[in-house]
Amino acid sequence: MTIKIGILISGRGTNMDAIVEHIRSENAPVQVCFVASDKASAAGLETAKSKGIATAVLPYKQGRAAGEAGIERLWQEYGIDLLVLAGFMRLITGDFVSRHEGRILNIHPAMLPKFPGAHGIEDFWKSGESSSGVTVHVVDAEMDHGPILMQREVVREPDDTIETFEAKIHKVEHQLYWQALKAYISTITQEA
Ligand code: GAR
Repeated sequence: MTIKIGILISGRGTNMDAIVEHIRSENAPVQVCFVASDKASAAGLETAKSKGIATAVLPYKQGRAAGEAGIERLWQEYGIDLLVLAGFMRLITGDFVSRHEGRILNIHPAMLPKFPGAHGIEDFWKSGESSSGVTVHVVDAEMDHGPILMQREVVREPDDTIETFEAKIHKVEHQLYWQALKAYISTITQEA
């Protein structure tokens, strides 16, 4: 059974790319049906196109309802099983989430519930705490919130700068999202 997923991005799309490459290298029965962005300028759209994946720009310029209607159309058109948020910087409304309960995943560059929001790495860095990490979770109607699937700690070393620390976070993200996604897929396929 092939699981169909759609991926939403807003920027570089390195997490999206890492998932695509894990699927290819493991020959996993997961099909990335589309990569969509709220921003036409998102560099990840070009990456996806170069790999032969369908792309779309969501009409968020016309407001959140139009943007989410765009996601819903893609969901139905491709008949996806899961929606994967990979650096998608928009809050998904409760209405949308409740229509797709348990079918939307997100990654966040901090140990949720700590440092939610668009600046998880910077907010941790300014806090002076000694470690942060990466969280993959099921999406509910609150920002960067919902049942946690996997977390991995990343320790701030004395010689880290915010740049080296950020690079460590991204390296962990690029492994953890696929691990969590794979485990979640096996749970939902066993239930089916
Ligand atoms: C990632 O670090 C992801 O965790 C973060 O955006 C970045 C996207 O990078 N998401 C959030 O902060 C969600 N609140 P990418 O476009 O290179 O994958």
